[in-house]
Amino acid sequence: MNPEIRRAAEILRAGGLVAFPTETVYGLGADASSAAAMARLYRVKGRPADHPVIVHFDSMERALAWTRDVPSEARILAERFWPGPLTLILKRSDKAKDFVTGGQPSVGVRVPSHPVAQELLRAFGGGVAAPSANRFGRVSPTTAAHVREDLGGDVDFVLEGGPSEVGIESTIVDLSGGGAVLLRPGKISKADLQKIVELKEKTESSPRHSGGLERHYSPRTPARLVATHALDREISHLKNRVAVLAFSRPDERVDYWLRMPREPEGYAQKLYAALRELDGAGCDLILVEAPPEGPEWAAVRDRLVRACA
Ligand code: TXA
Ligand code: MG
Repeated sequence: MNPEIRRAAEILRAGGLVAFPTETVYGLGADASSAAAMARLYRVKGRPADHPVIVHFDSMERALAWTRDVPSEARILAERFWPGPLTLILKRSDKAKDFVTGGQPSVGVRVPSHPVAQELLRAFGGGVAAPSANRFGRVSPTTAAHVREDLGGDVDFVLEGGPSEVGIESTIVDLSGGGAVLLRPGKISKADLQKIVELKEKTESSPRHSGGLERHYSPRTPARLVATHALDREISHLKNRVAVLAFSRPDERVDYWLRMPREPEGYAQKLYAALRELDGAGCDLILVEAPPEGPEWAAVRDRLVRACA
């Protein structure tokens, strides 16, 4: 076994914190069956204790052992999309304690596909709770360098795995209450899911999830979404130093400009690194050109609306 993986698994077993790459974003991992490890995870993350975390496994068998009364739709989704960027919220078994679920009767489980995550989870052999490896409310990390910037010495070990391929967090589907509800859009789209299961609309009683908080995934610099046709006018009226995230070529009046891909998957992959870069540009304001209306942009739009809330 790769010595880095062995060391990371030992740290997890000893109750430590290991940041590791997944195909979506980097996770901050802790032994999901240890109250002490979980307490430390919440402290470092700065996350309120009643917010549940996703538990990661190397296989569907291990993941479903933390759940019960699994509906057939959940099995079908798991077989189709695992390993991959999908999280299922299911009724929990005795293995999922209150300190993982935030006291809710359900648990979020996921089998990531990133080879380093897979190796780590196999070596560890149990459930690894892993929120995104950033401080609460900040932009998720998509490289090991981002993790070190955010968490520094508060994490015991950071596994390298290159830039995350998907770039935004997993799609979350809640199947804990009868029917399937899309809680968080991601690379696996509503259309992908609807080919397989019927989706119900989200209601007020849907379980709490921090991705549902208005201001989340936010840069420190105030950010604003601007329609394409209004971008030029906004720029010509601005007196402050401004950084722009847009599809078109740079405008020379603007201090800092990042050009983004015109297709949603490429855009998602670059999004969080771009927001970090613009945040570091020392401007007073970030202007974000709004993406197109189509359903294929839903996940990107969701993250941008929150970043600009
Ligand atoms: O792509 C991802 O899902 C990444 C990587 C590391 O796997 N993880 C991630 O975790 O985004 P986190 O903790 O930053 O976001 C997890 C979301 C939160 O909004 C959390 O509240 C929700 O999943 N969640 C977890 N368990 C839940 C449950 N039982 N009921 C409702 N929401 C839940
Ligand atoms: Mg997060």
